[in-house]
Amino acid sequence: MLKGKCAIITGAARGIGKAIALKLASLGANIVLNYRSSEDEAKIVAAEIEKMGVEVLTVKGDISNLNEVENLINTAKERFGIIDIIVNNAGITKDTLILRMKEEDFDSIIDVNLKGVFNCLKSVTPVMVKQKHGKIINISSVVGVVGNAGQVNYAASKAGVIGMTKSLAKELGGRGINVNAVAPGFIETDMTSTLGDKVKEEAKKNIPLKKFGTTEDVAGVVAFLASEDSKYITGQVINVDGGMVM
Ligand code: NAI
Repeated sequence: MLKGKCAIITGAARGIGKAIALKLASLGANIVLNYRSSEDEAKIVAAEIEKMGVEVLTVKGDISNLNEVENLINTAKERFGIIDIIVNNAGITKDTLILRMKEEDFDSIIDVNLKGVFNCLKSVTPVMVKQKHGKIINISSVVGVVGNAGQVNYAASKAGVIGMTKSLAKELGGRGINVNAVAPGFIETDMTSTLGDKVKEEAKKNIPLKKFGTTEDVAGVVAFLASEDSKYITGQVINVDGGMVM
């Protein structure tokens, strides 16, 4: 389905990003695996991908730093000559109520989750415009749609990602580039493992499917958006949340 395509995935050393990298590789895509600091974890994922018979390039880089993102895009372009797919997955949380939220708690989340995605979009767009095709998939969150107490910073960043997705879909629609977002609900990863059991049980009560999602649930939808099956879809936000938000 994605044979010979080049796909960049940010923050792909673990969690949802790792599952996306493995899924796209299993469909035949060559993978550019970005990580910020977890080199050992990235190498393990890269080895797993290589076993699938596709090429993999690991590139260290902090997405909140435009120079490092430009290096990521240039390195991918030099190696594969083309960038068919980018999945802007890397993200962080720093949850607390606004009464306790410090200015740096807000700024650091915006720097990574919003400015980081902007940096990737800014750097990859000229390449995709020139080649006249591309699939951009931004990982937002249902929290960016409905909000969540204790996540003013995170919700603002993820709502911003949705705004950027829709704006860029309008800018690039005539140039053969699809831009969509995926909004996961509760997915079992390191990011959610810090939540207490009580919080988790309460959360499940509000999920029609009565369970948390897996990283593979998100990866499957990303694979669809990266494929030709979704060629008439752009500017959309697809919730992968067990029906939590509808
Ligand atoms: P995770 O914490 O397991 O993985 C995130 C990855 O991004 C890590 O490998 C981390 O090193 C990397 N990363 C963080 N900052 C970075 C930076 N500045 N530059 C490059 N890489 C960086 O998180 P998870 O759960 O896999 O989340 C992936 C994405 O999905 C995030 O954008 C998150 O906000 C989003 N999401 C996750 C949900 C969940 O329930 N787990 C729900 C909704 C959205």
